[in-house]
Amino acid sequence: MVKFSVIGGDASSDLAKRIARRLKAPYIKTEKNIFPDGESKITINHIPKKSIAVIVQSTYPPVDTNLLELLSIVSKVQKFSSKVYAVIPYMGYARQDREFLDGEIITIQVVGKLLKATGVKKILTVDIHSKLALKQLKISSENVSAMEGLVKHFQKIRLKNPLVVSPDLGGQERAKEFANLLKTDFIALKKHRDRKTGKVKILSNKVDVKDRDLILVDDMISTGGSIIRATQFLKKQKCKRVFVACTHALLVNDATKNIKNAGVSQIISTNTIPGNSAKVDVSKVISDALK
Ligand code: R5P
Repeated sequence: MVKFSVIGGDASSDLAKRIARRLKAPYIKTEKNIFPDGESKITINHIPKKSIAVIVQSTYPPVDTNLLELLSIVSKVQKFSSKVYAVIPYMGYARQDREFLDGEIITIQVVGKLLKATGVKKILTVDIHSKLALKQLKISSENVSAMEGLVKHFQKIRLKNPLVVSPDLGGQERAKEFANLLKTDFIALKKHRDRKTGKVKILSNKVDVKDRDLILVDDMISTGGSIIRATQFLKKQKCKRVFVACTHALLVNDATKNIKNAGVSQIISTNTIPGNSAKVDVSKVISDALK
C-alpha cells in the first residue's frame, strides 16, 4: 500500500506533480469541463484506495470555482482513502479573517466548515495572510513559509546595500524573516486601507533608503495598490531599485503593468499561483511538511 496519493486540481496540477515526485507517490490527475451555464464538471479518472489522499488546489481566481472543485474532489476521494489532506498553497478568503465593518461575514470560517464537512482532516497552506485566518479555519492546519526559497532567488541578484521593506505593519514578521535570511536589515511602512473603497495610502513620513536597493516583501499582490503606493513613496525618498518578493502573485487586471509603471524593476513570486513571475518552487517545503 502506498502512503500518499497526490491528486492535482486544475488550478495546481503542475505543483501537485512536483509534490508527488518528491513524496515518491502516485500522481492522479483530474479533469474539469465548464458547462455553458458556468457549472463545472469534475472527473477523477482513478480513485486512490486506502492511502492518504493529498489534494492540491490553490483557490486563486476564479476563487469560488476553484474552491468548489477542491470540495468536490475531497468529497469523492474521502470515501476510499484512509485520510484526506488538503494542500491549499494559496488560500483564498484568508483576508476575510475578522469582522472589519459591522455585518461582515468571516468567510474564511465558512471555508473551514466546508472543508471539514466534506472530509478534510488537515490543511496545509503557504504563507497564509494571517495567523488569525489559520485559526479561523477551526480544523487541524499548518502553514509553511516560502521565504527561504524567495531569499535564495534574491541571493543570485547583485544588489546594492539591500534593505527589506514591508509595505505594512502587518507584514513585519515576514519581512524580518526575509531580512534575517538575507543577512540584512528591514523596515515596515505604515499603510492605511479605506475599508469601503479599498484605496491604499502610505502614512509613514521619512525613511532612510537613499541609494539602497529595496526588496518589498509581501504575502500577496492582488490589485497591486499596496506595492504601487509603497514604491511611489520609496522612490520619493531617493532609493535605488525596487524589487518585489511575494508568495502569491494574483496580479489581477492591469496590476503587472501598473506596478512596472510605478518603477518596480522585477516581481518574483512562487508557484502557489502559476504565472510569469512564479520563479520559486514551493514543492519542497510542502512535501517536507507532509512527510
Ligand atoms: C494586505 O494586508 C496584504 O498583505 C497585501 O498587502 C494586500 O492584500 C495586497 O493587495 P493589493 O495588491 O490589492 O494592494
